Amino acid sequence: MIEIRRLAKSYGSHQALKDVSLTIRPGEFVVVLGPSGAGKSTLLRCINRLTPPTGGEIVVDGAPFSSSGRDLRLLRRNVAMIFQQHNLVKRLSVLKNVLVGRMADLSPVLSSLQLFPEADVKIAMHCLEQVAMVHKARSRADALSGGEQQRVGIARALAQQPRFMLADEPVASLDPKTSRVVLTYLKKSCKDSNIAVLCNLHQIDYALEFGERIVGLSGGEVVYDGAPGGVSGDVIRRIYPGLDDPNVLDAAQRLTERRRAAAEAETAATVREERV
Ligand SMILES: Nc1ncnc2c1ncn2[C@@H]1O[C@H](COP(=O)(O)OP(=O)(O)OP(=O)(O)O)[C@@H](O)[C@H]1O
Ligand SMILES: [Mg+2]
Repeated sequence: MIEIRRLAKSYGSHQALKDVSLTIRPGEFVVVLGPSGAGKSTLLRCINRLTPPTGGEIVVDGAPFSSSGRDLRLLRRNVAMIFQQHNLVKRLSVLKNVLVGRMADLSPVLSSLQLFPEADVKIAMHCLEQVAMVHKARSRADALSGGEQQRVGIARALAQQPRFMLADEPVASLDPKTSRVVLTYLKKSCKDSNIAVLCNLHQIDYALEFGERIVGLSGGEVVYDGAPGGVSGDVIRRIYPGLDDPNVLDAAQRLTERRRAAAEAETAATVREERV
């Protein structure tokens, strides 16, 4: 279990995060929803200490993490990160890119020579299987489509065998159909491995479709934390203070309900097609 306790971050006089507290259970798929500038990226970056927080703490299974070198290494080992731009090494094969996720466990000599033990190759291939990309294992990363590259990015994060996955707008640059396929693989593969996910999204419909729990962030504060079913027009107005036309909101919600059913069917069909 991961507890984020009163996490705060200020840039000069600007408070990007204000006392954010969240407890995330193993295997839970949590979507952080909020407008641009709400503090979504800052939250993820403070959790894995890519950015030093100015207050609060991260507690894993009751043990607080300090900023000592040992704790940082442990934190990074247990927390994997997926970015909007997947940062694959273009000229390397898909398999080698996924093996990069195993490097934390490898001796520096072997990793600098890119010599990977058979056991690591097995793990990497299993991770590629989880995102249905085994058939592309030997392809160069830059020969893949954007959606395929993001699935490899997910496989690389899975290969790290983390307990916790942070995804910052993982589908922001993908078309709607590809976005759903990528989010489906992300959710399913993390469920299968009991990895908790904190996924930043700014699209309300994807958040409601995929999130098991929604954390609404606005102005650096948590303004909603609960089930997707509880995200009413009022909640949306709290998350997006500038958006206040109730007709638009109600229509958006009805549309989301309809699209959710249709999209689930379509995604399931796409995933089935790809597996054969
Ligand atoms: N390095 C920085 N220096 C100064 N201010 C920053 C820095 N990084 C973020 N901020 C500010 O903190 C606030 C939160 O930014 P953040 O990037 O976390 O928002 P976000 O919710 O991820 O937005 P987006 O949806 O556009 O990615 C913004 O007002 C931003 O300008
Ligand atoms: Mg962001």
